[in-house]
Amino acid sequence: MTRILLIVGGGIAAYKACELIRLLRRGGHDVRCVLTDGGAHFVTPMTLAALSERPVHTSLWDLKDEAEMGHIQLSRQADLVVVAPATADLMARMAGGVADDLATTLLLATDKPVLAVPAMNVRMWQHPATRRNIATLRGDGITVLEPDEGPMACGEFGPGRLPEPHAIVAAIEALTGTPASKPAPSLAGRHILVTAGPTHEPIDPVRYLANRSSGKQGFAIAAACAARGGRVTLVAGPVTLATPAGVDRIDVETAREMADAVTQALPADVAVMVAAVADWHVDAAPSKLKKDGGAPVLALRPNPDILATLGASDRRPRLLVGFAAETDDVLVHATAKRSAKNADWIVANDVGGDVMGGDRNEVHLVTAAGAERWPDAPKSEIADRLADRIADALR
Ligand code: CTP
Repeated sequence: MTRILLIVGGGIAAYKACELIRLLRRGGHDVRCVLTDGGAHFVTPMTLAALSERPVHTSLWDLKDEAEMGHIQLSRQADLVVVAPATADLMARMAGGVADDLATTLLLATDKPVLAVPAMNVRMWQHPATRRNIATLRGDGITVLEPDEGPMACGEFGPGRLPEPHAIVAAIEALTGTPASKPAPSLAGRHILVTAGPTHEPIDPVRYLANRSSGKQGFAIAAACAARGGRVTLVAGPVTLATPAGVDRIDVETAREMADAVTQALPADVAVMVAAVADWHVDAAPSKLKKDGGAPVLALRPNPDILATLGASDRRPRLLVGFAAETDDVLVHATAKRSAKNADWIVANDVGGDVMGGDRNEVHLVTAAGAERWPDAPKSEIADRLADRIADALR
C-alpha cells in the first residue's frame, strides 16, 4: 500500500481525478486529497471525500486541519505527492516556489517524490512559459508526465489532455515500486488461529466484568487470512458479528474458556491474539447478588495469559502475533509485551480515542527489527496488510 497525497487542480480534467482515486483505492492504496480553489469549481470536496474515505483538505487557514494535522505533516505523511490535474498556473507557481495556498505550500514543504500530471489547452501546453516551467520542475526532480494527445474539452486538438487514470496509476506504481494489482500472497495450507473480541467474566448469573472491544479487528483479520486461502480458527468472545466466509468459529465467554479453546485448536502455524482478554475474573456467585446484602467486594483473580502461555509452550506456533491496546507510551509498552510474552510481532494500537468499537485503526507493527507506523485506515485494510505480512513471513 502506498500513501498518496493527491492534489486536484482546477481544470475540467478534475473529473478524471475521481476515477483515479477509485482505481488507487481498489489497488489497496491510501489516498488523501487536497482540492485547490480552482479544482473546487469542477469537483466537490464531498465527491473526493466519499471516494477516498478521508476528509478532504482545502484551505491553508482551516484551523481545525492545522490542529489535527499541520500542513507540513500532511505533506510528509505521504509516500508520494501526485498533482492531477496539474494546470499551467499550478505548475508555474510550483516552478516559482510560490506558497500562497494549501496545495503550493504542501508542494514546497514536502520531502517526498512528486508526480505532476498536466492537463491544459494545447496552446497553453506549447507556450514557452509552460515549457520553461516544466523544464524547471524536471530540473527540481519532479516527475512530469507527458499529456495525451487528442480532442480537448475546449474544442481544440493536440497534446494537453490528462492521461487516462489507469496510465496515471501505472506511473505511480513505476515511481513507488508497489504495483496496485500485485496478487495477495497465499496462506494456502496454513492453519491460522485468531482470538477476537472481549471476554465476559461473570459476577453472578446476570452481571459480568467486560471491556469495550467490538471484535471487528480480529474478525477482519480472520476474514483476510481465509481470503488468502488459509484454514482459520476464530475463537471469539461474546460479540454479535457475522462469521466471515470460510472461517471456523468457536464462541466462548470467559478468558478461561478462550484459553481452553485456543489449546484445543493447536497446532497452528500462526496465532494472532487480537482478543481483549480480561486480566481478572471473580468467583461468580451462584445466584443473583441482592442489593440489600450490602455492596459486594469483588476479589479479582488473575486469568491465564493466553498469548504468554503460547509463547512459552512447546507447541508455540511458528509465528506468534499479539496486540497491545494502550492509552499511553504505546511503543514502550508494546515493545515490553513483545519480549515478556515471547511474541514475534506486536500490533500496537492507541485505544485512547474511539478505536474500540470503531471501524478504523492506526497501529504500529513492532517486530525484532523495530516499530513501523501504519497509517490510519479501515480495520479491513489493516487486516489485509497484516495477512500479507504473515503470508510473506511464512514463505
Ligand atoms: N492477552 C492474552 N491473555 C490475557 C491478556 C492478554 O492472550 N489474559 C493477549 C492479548 O490478546 C494481546 C496481548 O496479550 O494479544 C496484549 O494484551 P493487553 O491487554 O494489551 O495486555 P496485558 O498483558 O493484559 O497487559 P496490560 O493490561 O497490563 O496492558
